[in-house]
Amino acid sequence: MGRAELAEEAPSPGAYPAVRLRRNRRDTWTRRLVAENTLSVDDLIWPIFVIEGKNEERPVASMPGQVRVTVDRVAKHVEEAAKLGIPAIAIFPATPAEAKDAEGSEALNPDNLICRAARELKREFPEVGLIGDVALDPYTDHGHDGVFRETRTGEYIHNDDTVAVLVRQALNQAEAGIDVIAPSDMMDGRIGAIRRALDAEGFIDTRIMSYAAKYASAFYGPFRDALGNSQALRGDKKTYQMDPANSDEALREVAMDLAEGADTVMVKPGMPYLDIIRRVKDRFGVPTFAYQVSGEYAMIMAAVNNGWLDHDRTMLESLMGFKRAGASGVLSYFSVKAARLLKG
Ligand code: PBG
Repeated sequence: MGRAELAEEAPSPGAYPAVRLRRNRRDTWTRRLVAENTLSVDDLIWPIFVIEGKNEERPVASMPGQVRVTVDRVAKHVEEAAKLGIPAIAIFPATPAEAKDAEGSEALNPDNLICRAARELKREFPEVGLIGDVALDPYTDHGHDGVFRETRTGEYIHNDDTVAVLVRQALNQAEAGIDVIAPSDMMDGRIGAIRRALDAEGFIDTRIMSYAAKYASAFYGPFRDALGNSQALRGDKKTYQMDPANSDEALREVAMDLAEGADTVMVKPGMPYLDIIRRVKDRFGVPTFAYQVSGEYAMIMAAVNNGWLDHDRTMLESLMGFKRAGASGVLSYFSVKAARLLKG
């Protein structure tokens, strides 16, 4: 039955008083029975930040409650998430300034932060999925996700030269035990190139979660603080990330990434883009993830810390919103806190 027909079948206002929607809201037990969506620990992916050094934990000022940890502490950091049954962790490295260059070459170092953290976590928690972000911004001194090249039309983040590096970055992460390659760079054609390279190297089951519809957003600010590249960024990312005004274009991005072999797709940021999640889910019916990004977390936590919003209720309501919009799961900095509550 189509949506229009469903709408016709819905009771008209004239149906009152026989129809009273409040009856089903009367008790917890009916509310539970008629709930259209559920939020469980199976829906949660937890992003974590790793730093160089020994036995250290450094808070992220703009993300109250989130810390950056050294590799020797990463297993301890993830232990509770693993025990709570969070299915997967996304690892983000805060590369020291001295390891950054214009080409992002540290991304290809088999002993870089993300590779060391991945090996450590795979050893300690083999049952937890590991997601590796593929993009050059944690490694470039200019803070961009790709490499600059002089072209006939001026200096530009060069698409195909960047893809060539991303392919090698993805292989480097797969070698280290990353289960899911998550390209967040928004270059054209990178999913296909990475898929072919993974297959050629025998990583046939290494999954690809494409940041398919990723917008040039103001909400990434605290993340760039956490990685220490907010100062560094030259210009903005509008020549590769999407314009927040666009929605049809998101469907083209998703279609392209699926055709190139993406196993799952992502919409990012989350809360201001729930309409995109719904359109992607309705159109393609594929596993669709949302990223409730750093700025969304910061915004909620700022209000909570001012006493303006209730932490637990706001957190759970925001996460349920993603499920209602059609998301299969959510990358959220709230994941551990939410899992604690959901597990009672
Ligand atoms: C890197 C990347 C970013 C985020 C995830 N991967 C930042 C950016 O594109 O500038 C943001 C995540 C967040 O804000 O929580 N390409």
